[in-house]
Amino acid sequence: MTSMNRREYLTTTLGGFALMGAGSIASASSLLPLAETASSDGIRQDGIRQDNSSGNPATYTLPHLAYSYDALEPHIDAQTMELHHSIHHQSYVNGLNLALARLEQARETGDFALVKHWSKEIGFHGAGHFLHEIFWSVMSPDGGGKPKDADLKKAIDRSFGGFDAFEAHYVAASSAVEASGWGILAWEPTLNRLMVLQAEKHQNLSPMVTVPLLPVDVWEHAYYLRYQNRRADYVRAFMKVVDWEAVAERYHQARQVLG
Ligand SMILES: [Fe+2]
Repeated sequence: MTSMNRREYLTTTLGGFALMGAGSIASASSLLPLAETASSDGIRQDGIRQDNSSGNPATYTLPHLAYSYDALEPHIDAQTMELHHSIHHQSYVNGLNLALARLEQARETGDFALVKHWSKEIGFHGAGHFLHEIFWSVMSPDGGGKPKDADLKKAIDRSFGGFDAFEAHYVAASSAVEASGWGILAWEPTLNRLMVLQAEKHQNLSPMVTVPLLPVDVWEHAYYLRYQNRRADYVRAFMKVVDWEAVAERYHQARQVLG
């Protein structure tokens, strides 16, 4: 972090819904992008081609998980995790890369007839990709309970009147998202406060300036195999695997750059 400037930070680590950025998350406990594992010859350790001028990957890639697909059992089942990560998240990565490639073609040819379509595709697939990156990183087999970080606890108390009130609000808002979307604990820098937000699909409703700290995926693909229509049960189960240390780290990094 200390060697990153503000823009690099926003585009490689915060990522996410409101402040759309690039990069992939290396592990659940680290917010460093995968690109930092690249060697000097432009080829990353995982074989992904990268842009030598920036050091970032040339295309977006599916992040590796820091835990196995069955590690969050019984709260999040292994089959859901595998499908969710390897199929659903991969489709957002592919959609984002395709949209960017088509817009590159448009710039080359000067034909912007489909610019509205591909811009919407970036919004949908980009927000989907970035939110999933955060989603994987804020869960842990050792998660659950309440945050121990003093600053995050204070922020939750100040913004919601206590952890229990926050949790009730977060579960209710996430469970009540209309159709597909996300519940999001986000930090808002203007008044330096936390907010519970809803996002419909991936990209609608939430204020652009906020930084997502704890998003929970409430698309049916995230829970239907185990929880069917009982979305609130799934959100309550999600709370049992929240990695509050990772959430606190995101909170501190966001404030360090924007606060
Ligand atoms: Fe999802």
